[in-house]
Amino acid sequence: MRLQSCYNFQDFRRLAKQRLPGPIFNYIDGGADDETTLRRNTAAFEDCDLVPNVLAGVGQVDMSVTVMGQKLTMPVYCSPTALQRLFHHSGERAVAAAAEKFGTMFGVSSLGTVSLEEVRQHRTPQVYQFYFHRDRGLNRAMMERAKASGVEVMMLTVDSVTGGNRERDLRTGFSIPFRLTVGGMMQFAIKPRWAIDYLTHEKFSLPQLDGHIDLGGGALSISRYFTEILDPSLDWKDVEDMVRFWNGQFCLKGIMSVADARKAVEIGCTGIVLSNHGGRQLDGSRSPFDQLSEIVDAVGDKIDVIIDSGVQRGTHVLKALSVGAKAVGVGRYYLFPLAAAGQAGVERALGLMRTEIERGMRLMGCRSVAELSRENVRFR
Ligand SMILES: Cc1cc2nc3c(=O)[nH]c(=O)nc-3n(C[C@H](O)[C@H](O)[C@H](O)COP(=O)(O)O)c2cc1C
Repeated sequence: MRLQSCYNFQDFRRLAKQRLPGPIFNYIDGGADDETTLRRNTAAFEDCDLVPNVLAGVGQVDMSVTVMGQKLTMPVYCSPTALQRLFHHSGERAVAAAAEKFGTMFGVSSLGTVSLEEVRQHRTPQVYQFYFHRDRGLNRAMMERAKASGVEVMMLTVDSVTGGNRERDLRTGFSIPFRLTVGGMMQFAIKPRWAIDYLTHEKFSLPQLDGHIDLGGGALSISRYFTEILDPSLDWKDVEDMVRFWNGQFCLKGIMSVADARKAVEIGCTGIVLSNHGGRQLDGSRSPFDQLSEIVDAVGDKIDVIIDSGVQRGTHVLKALSVGAKAVGVGRYYLFPLAAAGQAGVERALGLMRTEIERGMRLMGCRSVAELSRENVRFR
């Protein structure tokens, strides 16, 4: 299978699976516990039907949106994800360049493998995804660094105060640094091309944390990072202090309840991302799309409501925008193409997404995102 034969999420996933050692593929693909939430995230979109209007004069369609003060030429952005240079040696560099080409936003994770400063050279809005550490001095230093680099949006992930139970990773032994089981090692041995790529490019590192925490070097594993270094006592007061200190666009990623959405408004956040981390954290939790209308009804006029988890198609995006989301984040949708073909893969995926949204808007009889509304959807 080749990149040119990839037309949708499942095609990219298949190609990534061919290229990646099994433990890495499963790290991207997998979810928590029984993966119930992972499956529901995408299935939720199938319980909603689009109701098109016709003869609407759709010669020109404008899919641009403004979210948290950022003008995006398409309503889909690349959500922050960890460890990208493990998936393809170009990692965040490829994702940032592709996002810039499509005029959209991208995120750099606290566990990113390229420094947030290096990808600042791309003239497109950048999110910095923050994990809150027990060491308050470290938190302050990381925020100051992001501020100095001119990052547009601070995104604090709040659904990961402890790690999810990813049983696929337990079986393969996937961890950073690698502690593979014999079966896991065999799976690396049968993908020599990935190994050659990995070994002939710059050494793995986590530049957002370097100088503070030694994760790349060996002593500490990623799972211990979640259990020992992140701070489960994080509360609304801490976040309020962060919002005040940041004094700019500040968004909480992983909000699901109306009560929390209201608190986010009260403490001065400018955005919330309805997300369950792509089904990787609390299995059995509701899918963001199922929960979207409740949240939009409660706070949609006071804060930008964004959604991620399970989005694989342009029509999924149209459904979310119709219900009231301001923009839509994707994770695996660009990670599999990244793994399959680097920047060319991410560009192909974003290009297909843009074409699907444009076609969908025409077929829906909508010339702009503002014309999408709840009139256009029905739930079964
Ligand atoms: C491999 C992988 C790594 C991720 N790393 C992070 C991370 O470091 N920080 C974060 O806030 N979210 C992380 N996420 C979650 C994504 O930002 C996003 O919420 C999720 O992927 C959306 O679901 P989707 O993959 O179904 O689109 C990660 C997701 C995946 C698949």
